[in-house]
Amino acid sequence: MTSLHNRHINPLILKDLTGDNWRLADYVKRGGYSALRRILEEKIAPEQIIADLKASGLRGRGGAGFPTGLKWSFMPRQFPGQKYLVCNTDEGEPGTFKDRDIIRYNPHALIEGMAIGAYAMGITVGYNYIHGEIFQEYLRFEEALEEARAAGFLGDRILGSDFSFQLHAHHGYGAYICGEETALLESLEGKKGQPRFKPPFPASFGLYGKPTTINNTETFSAVPFILNIGAENYAALGKPNNGGTKIFSISGDVERPGNYEVPLGTPFAKLMELAGGMRGGKKIKAVIPGGSSAPVIRGEIMMETDLDYDSIAKAGSMLGSGAVIVMDETRCMVKALERLSYFYYEESCGQCTPCREGTGWMYRMIHRIEHGEGRQSDLDMLNSIADNIQGRTICALGDAAAMPVRAFIKQFREEFEYHVEHKHCLVPVSAY
Ligand SMILES: Cc1cc2nc3c(=O)[nH]c(=O)nc-3n(C[C@H](O)[C@H](O)[C@H](O)COP(=O)(O)O)c2cc1C
Repeated sequence: MTSLHNRHINPLILKDLTGDNWRLADYVKRGGYSALRRILEEKIAPEQIIADLKASGLRGRGGAGFPTGLKWSFMPRQFPGQKYLVCNTDEGEPGTFKDRDIIRYNPHALIEGMAIGAYAMGITVGYNYIHGEIFQEYLRFEEALEEARAAGFLGDRILGSDFSFQLHAHHGYGAYICGEETALLESLEGKKGQPRFKPPFPASFGLYGKPTTINNTETFSAVPFILNIGAENYAALGKPNNGGTKIFSISGDVERPGNYEVPLGTPFAKLMELAGGMRGGKKIKAVIPGGSSAPVIRGEIMMETDLDYDSIAKAGSMLGSGAVIVMDETRCMVKALERLSYFYYEESCGQCTPCREGTGWMYRMIHRIEHGEGRQSDLDMLNSIADNIQGRTICALGDAAAMPVRAFIKQFREEFEYHVEHKHCLVPVSAY
């Protein structure tokens, strides 16, 4: 599905990657590990690194968009016991496939970013939790770790300094819920991956009950580039409050699906152009701009929207993980929602009643509408179930399941009503 190409705008993480140049020697040739080396040689204060990250405007690329510098400042640096750094490569949200490409094509950027994070937060042990369905990438990441250890970029007394950092990879089993940070920690501890009640947050009670910082793969991978080009320059790439570049995974009815790194604030129409436009020249109907849990937006609105946290929120959705799913005029919105709701039903961990029962209930109702057995009252009932899930569960999987249901019915109600009345799609059957 994803392919390497050079159709990015001002890329940092995906710049100059060919598929064969992922090894340490290639990364060093591209200027890799120079930020870590400079930090250790010049003994740059950890507080300075955190201040730089705050100034860069980097926001977490895992979905919630939380400011990274602020998150790093929550780590109690002076805590006397073990502290942990964890990377979330459990990418499982339908539509998202950027983290896979980072560890496939530029794994050392992630390793360097994590080592810098460990230095800044006074941490000596880290883990990268990798999704169970990307085993080849997991093996590659293990190879990259070996290279970094052998070259002295990881391990004891890194580059002759008094900073030590042991980094390990951990292979998950492909459960979407393990992308939720506290379920991930449970799973890393060898337990069933179910989210923890918060507070306490991982910064005070994380892995094995110790202070832990968790960030997404893309978030960590951006760090060396930010320190190399300077925080202000990074921020200036994007828009105020939306600093830097972002990798968008574009899929669906476009000519060239793939990962595109562009500055935040780039018009969606420009991303469409990079992705070769609509497949077969068809008309755009709907876009899910931030992974399957983000509310769907009508195509014509999206074509006028910029790709940054604030603009997408203003248009009624979320930038989320940056997974852009494009649907053309032949797509049936009932069928699309049926597929999405089945995913959340399958992936609910079952811990909270509203999510465990509600996701199955919503799926069954949408299934029956799709199969010509729906009732007009089902639409309001679906909204009511979604209302009773959203905000009422331990983690945000409940919200993730409820939001698409509400948005699809709100944006395309006429199509759902037509389906109920006529017992088939409003649109002709998709050619794909
Ligand atoms: C159901 C669910 C699945 C999630 N999946 C992922 C994921 O695959 N990758 C990820 O980085 N964050 C995921 N998150 C968000 C994480 O809980 C967490 O916010 C993120 O890893 C923090 O990193 P960041 O601040 O760098 O974005 C998920 C959240 C939920 C509720």
